[in-house]
Parts: sequence; structure tokens; C-alpha cells
Amino acid sequence: MEQATPAAIEVSAARRVYGYGASTTVALGAVDFTVAPGRFVSLIGPSGCGKSTVLRLVAGLETPDAGRVLVHGATPADACAAKLIGFVPQTPALLPWLSVLKNVTLPQRINRKASKRRAPHPDMRELLRKAGLGDAMDKLPAQLSGGMQQRAAIVRAFGLRPEVLLMDEPFSSLDEFTRESLQDQLLGLWNELATTVLFVTHSVSEAVRLSDAVVVMSARPGRVVDVVEIDLPRPRGERLFEKREFHAYEDLIRDRLRGAWRSADIAKAGGAGR
Ligand SMILES: Nc1ncnc2c1ncn2[C@@H]1O[C@H](COP(=O)(O)OP(=O)(O)OP(=O)(O)O)[C@@H](O)[C@H]1O
Ligand SMILES: [Mg+2]
Repeated sequence: MEQATPAAIEVSAARRVYGYGASTTVALGAVDFTVAPGRFVSLIGPSGCGKSTVLRLVAGLETPDAGRVLVHGATPADACAAKLIGFVPQTPALLPWLSVLKNVTLPQRINRKASKRRAPHPDMRELLRKAGLGDAMDKLPAQLSGGMQQRAAIVRAFGLRPEVLLMDEPFSSLDEFTRESLQDQLLGLWNELATTVLFVTHSVSEAVRLSDAVVVMSARPGRVVDVVEIDLPRPRGERLFEKREFHAYEDLIRDRLRGAWRSADIAKAGGAGR
């Protein structure tokens, strides 16, 4: 009998509660979604709805209070130990005393004996060149702009050739053109290394441009209100913004988000519902 391939990420009825007693916060109600291997999926939802919490559960940094999270059929802790997971935090978090090249090769050097069954590590010098950092390899992070540091953090995350790459609003503080250029570089690496990506963003257009599917979450306690499949051909070049279908997807997601936002604490506090 044919064996079904496990999802790269499976989140089933995942619940997460912080604090206790009167200060209890139910961050996630019961979140369900799956990501098939090699797909690029974005998570979008009102501020405080639990997007970062979902990433932390998938990364194995926290465990759900109910439900389960699996990465390639294994617990996130086991997947992490097997170096299957890469994480790009919102701020680059490079070590200030190491050069760019030493920063991005650090995980490889620490994990020299990482599992032999996996494909060999990518050539980091080559990845840095592809990310436009060829001339910056020997510089210290403080000598780079914020966008360059963010690119280095992305390259570093690809270093162990993770099967699953988790990214928490990695481009949120960048100008539009730097952001677009980084999106293209990310898509290039994603394509080349056949990684599965779970990407948190507040930008609807970024989610549509990058993703195979967009998971829309409700206000806290977070749950999934819709999964929008983005059926736009790739590569999605500059002309994408001229396409009617692109804007139709943006409108659809904005509509779902509007519904999600209306129930948010922040909207209630502002007297929404007039
Ligand atoms: N360690 C914690 N202790 C207590 N509450 C927490 C903790 N971490 C998160 N929360 C709460 O859980 C909820 C979800 O937080 P989370 O950071 O996952 O939201 P988010 O969707 O990533 O928000 P944003 O878009 O603003 O980054 C929030 O109400 C937050 O205050
Ligand atoms: Mg967050």
C-alpha cells in the first residue's frame, strides 16, 4: 500500500495559554493547518493573535497546552535536534564580534557532525554572493546596513540546509525596494534548496507575492479563519502588481482580515462596531 508522505508542518488543534489565575491569556484557541513539503506558506492576522506563538511551537521553543505540532512527522524538539528547522527572527541577531562570513558559517562549524544522510551544506560564500553580500563577507555586522544584516541572517538560516524555514516578519523594518529585492533573493534560495517556508507577515501584498497559500488568523485567541490558496504562476516578476488576479487575492485576504480584526481587543478598545 502506498504510504502517505507526512506534512512538513502539521498543527492540529494547537492551544496555548500563558500565565495562570486572573492573568491567564489564551493566546491560541485551537489552531489547525498543514504545510506540504516544499511549499511557501504565510501566516497573517491581527497584532497579538498568536502568529509568533505558532512559530515558537513549530520551532520547538514552546509546547502546546493541548493539540499537537509535528515537523516531518516528528516532534519539533526531535526535528530541531536533527537540524531540520531554521529560524529567522525579526531582528538579525548576528554576533557583533564575528565577520559576516564567520557569522553565517557558525551553525555549520558548530554542527560539523550533523547527520550524514542529509545533503551537503551549501557553499556559504556562494550564497552570500547571491544575496549581494560578496563584498561584505569580511566586514563586521556594525559596518552593514540593517537590510544587509537581515540578508546575512537569512543566508545563515539556510546554512544547515533546513527542511523547514520559519521566518517572523523578517522584512518588516525595510524600505519597499530593499524588501522586494530581499523577497526575490529569498524566493531564489527557496527554489534552489527546495525548503518549506512558514513566513509571518503583516503585509497582505507581501503574503500574496511570496506564497503558495496564506493562512489567515482571527484575533486572540487565535484560530485559522481561512486558508487562501494563491494560484498565480511563478516567477512572479515586477508585472505582478499590474495583474488583476493579484489584487483580487489582496482584496480577498483584506476582507478576511477585516472580519478577524473587528473581533480584536484593539478594535473593541477603539469603539469599533459603530
Ligand atoms: N510569554 C508570554 N507570556 C504571556 N503572554 C504572552 C507571552 N507571549 C505572548 N503572549 C501573549 O499571547 C498573545 C499572542 O502573542 P504573539 O506574540 O504570538 O502575537 P503575534 O500575532 O505574533 O503579534 P504581533 O503581530 O504583534 O507580533 C498576545 O496577547 C501576547 O500578549
Ligand atoms: Mg509576532
